[in-house]
Amino acid sequence: MPIDRETEPAALPESVLDGGATAVAHPNIALIKYWGKLDERLVIPCVDSLSMTLDILPTTTTVRLTPAVRDDTVTLDGKPATGEQRQRITAFLELIREMAGRSERAAVDTRNTVPTGAGLASSASGFAALALAGAAAYGVGLDPTALSRLARRGSASASRSVFGGFAVCHAGRGIGATADLSSYAEPVSVPDFDPALVIALVNAGPKTVSSRAAMRRTVETSPLYKAWAISGKADLTDMRAALSRGDLEGVGEIAERNALGMHATMLAARPAVRYLSPATLAVLDSVLQLRADGVPAYATMDAGPNVKVLCHHADAARVADTVRDAVPACSAITARRGPGARLVTGAER
Ligand code: PMV
Repeated sequence: MPIDRETEPAALPESVLDGGATAVAHPNIALIKYWGKLDERLVIPCVDSLSMTLDILPTTTTVRLTPAVRDDTVTLDGKPATGEQRQRITAFLELIREMAGRSERAAVDTRNTVPTGAGLASSASGFAALALAGAAAYGVGLDPTALSRLARRGSASASRSVFGGFAVCHAGRGIGATADLSSYAEPVSVPDFDPALVIALVNAGPKTVSSRAAMRRTVETSPLYKAWAISGKADLTDMRAALSRGDLEGVGEIAERNALGMHATMLAARPAVRYLSPATLAVLDSVLQLRADGVPAYATMDAGPNVKVLCHHADAARVADTVRDAVPACSAITARRGPGARLVTGAER
């Protein structure tokens, strides 16, 4: 695996590509979670987060400038995007236009291989790909840090998908432009750590509450939120140490406690936000049973009922079989660490 190259996104081309630009980005799964914003408009996270970018389920996005057209056109998986999805993408294009000092509208074509809005990080791969393709199409030259800041404006988790392997996204400090500058992602170098992540898909449908609304409610009403945010600082320190030791058990234990803590903050929100379903709990039980049987396997969950299980590659098939047995309708796919966002050029397009 080309570990050295995986953490840096491909450099932007010097000139705008004829016919627009196409970028590919992969989802990432946070081992230390981001939950809660300091500033909703600027999308500034309250807490640091750390993730692994995956090698599966990429998003491919093409942005073409359409000077003769009055409105942006947005196609999502071959269909015109509508409502909030369209609005988030056009608002994001507006940001890129401001950076570029240009006003031409654009046609965006985005294709996900992951179900959209199911807590499977489609917004992470989606906005990382859109940031890279959009910046290239409008001729905005951004270094990886600036690109991660831009991607963050679409979805904070997207800042991490700019990088391959493991990446940390820094929480924001201050207000306004200071906060914007302070929050970006960067790679975490752990060249020798290459675990498997088994994704237990118990429900691929869209989530019942958007992560945006759920975060707001949690920060505003959950008495547990502050305690979780504080304990997350220690989790991140411990996680960095476990990663650098290549200690799967350590990484897994910290990731699991951090994710369960995040869901506890949501359960204590008023009214409660509950993404975990009976099927989620059945998968969590099966992970505990695996550990009791001597298989190091650890769970993490995002804003949805699906479970991601961290384990050694040698155990991935057994873990996948176990979670499928635990929930009849559950499917399982196995990922490993994957590459950062990149532009697709020439024949590959
Ligand atoms: O960036 P968003 O709005 O998709 O929120 C992501 C939140 C979690 O997936 C739950 C945690 C994370 O850090 O990815």
